[in-house]
Amino acid sequence: MKILVLGGDGFCGWPTSLHLSDLGHDVVIVDNLSRRRIDSELGAESLTPIRPAKERLSAWLHVSGRRISFLEADMTDFGVTLDLLRDECPEVVIHFAEQRAAPYSMKSPEHKNYTVRNNICATHNVLNGIVATGGETHLVHLGTMGVYGYGHDEPVPVPEGYLDVRFAAIDGREISDSIVYPPSPGSIYHMTKVMDATMFQYYAKNDHLRITDLHQGIVWGTQTEQTRRDERLINRFDYDGDYGTVLNRFLMQSAIGYPLTVYGTGGQTRAFIHIQDTCRCIANAIEHPPGRGSRPQIMNQMAETHRLRDLAEMVAGMSGCEIAYLPNPRNEMAENDLVVRNDSLRGFGWEPIHLDQALMTEVIEITQKYAHRCDRAKIPSTSYWTQERERSQTEQTGTPDVAAV
Ligand SMILES: NC(=O)c1ccc[n+]([C@@H]2O[C@H](COP(=O)([O-])OP(=O)(O)OC[C@H]3O[C@@H](n4cnc5c(N)ncnc54)[C@H](O)[C@@H]3O)[C@@H](O)[C@H]2O)c1
Repeated sequence: MKILVLGGDGFCGWPTSLHLSDLGHDVVIVDNLSRRRIDSELGAESLTPIRPAKERLSAWLHVSGRRISFLEADMTDFGVTLDLLRDECPEVVIHFAEQRAAPYSMKSPEHKNYTVRNNICATHNVLNGIVATGGETHLVHLGTMGVYGYGHDEPVPVPEGYLDVRFAAIDGREISDSIVYPPSPGSIYHMTKVMDATMFQYYAKNDHLRITDLHQGIVWGTQTEQTRRDERLINRFDYDGDYGTVLNRFLMQSAIGYPLTVYGTGGQTRAFIHIQDTCRCIANAIEHPPGRGSRPQIMNQMAETHRLRDLAEMVAGMSGCEIAYLPNPRNEMAENDLVVRNDSLRGFGWEPIHLDQALMTEVIEITQKYAHRCDRAKIPSTSYWTQERERSQTEQTGTPDVAAV
């Protein structure tokens, strides 16, 4: 299949592009390299030494004999997006091209605006462009489990996008329906994903676009079968206070003897998936598009759920590292339960990788090997969800840096 991977230079997009190329698909990566520029803005670098886009692609050609094309383009420019869809005529577009860090989206009024403008505009341009080019292209979008919110303290399973409801009609009859699960975004970034989801509902209804929205858990791990083949193919590993996702941060912190930074009580429960499984699930989603005229197909792309303090204790047990419980810069429930249905992707035969199978590989292959590249000054989080939280942190510790330990 001819596949455009928007955001294919990023953490999820790069290994997915290689995975799909390895399966024999004709892959074109499109990326405006904004994520690499944000690295410079934050003065933070991937723990792993990621190579320039062109060097990665020639390394892939060298090890696999397969060519992936690369176009530097910004999806917030409609003319560019339209030309791209007209010129490439993709059967599938995979859309990763968004600003994806919640803390970065909360950093300042400008960062909030940038995240909204970039994410909403990019998604709308792609939908608008698909309609303008005939409407046959299947759009696969990476959403997040965060659109559901983490508001339950009861073990009620989170369904795959839609909730079956019953309510009374005006004449007293009982009506059954299936509605979009009530969204509850926890940051500006998550809010843009909820807005994306609304656009998907509209375009599926009005233009009969075929849309799959994958509500993904927090991705952990770094390498996949393909990125491991040559060091020039290595995937990025973010550990800084804005982009570092929780488990990868714990693993890196344990490698350098930095107390594991748990925000609040660590009673937050979240969903996780290994990066290798991200690639496999997306390949499955491509093989199973919804029909034209169907509502957006929403699938929960996650393998398992864990309470953050349990994860911290697991990593501390492996490494002997201490745990630091810090004031929470985020506005979220201190404790929650999370049970998630993932029947759709499991129904395609997917057998998830679990934490206990791959955690040590990650420690040895990545965090210990590249620990010398870590800049400890980049570990603290400096983004707050509210001004009150920032004030209270500064009053208590004399610094707005959470994790300044
Ligand atoms: N990483 C996770 O844990 C995780 C979890 C759930 C969902 N997701 C979703 O998966 C997607 C990819 O996440 P990631 O971790 O790979 O992020 P990333 O920041 O590493 O990659 C995103 C890529 O998109 C590019 N990009 C951003 N805006 C663009 C634009 N306007 N035009 C062209 N390219 C643009 C960036 O340069 C970057 O290479 C995101 O939409 C994210 O919300 C990620």
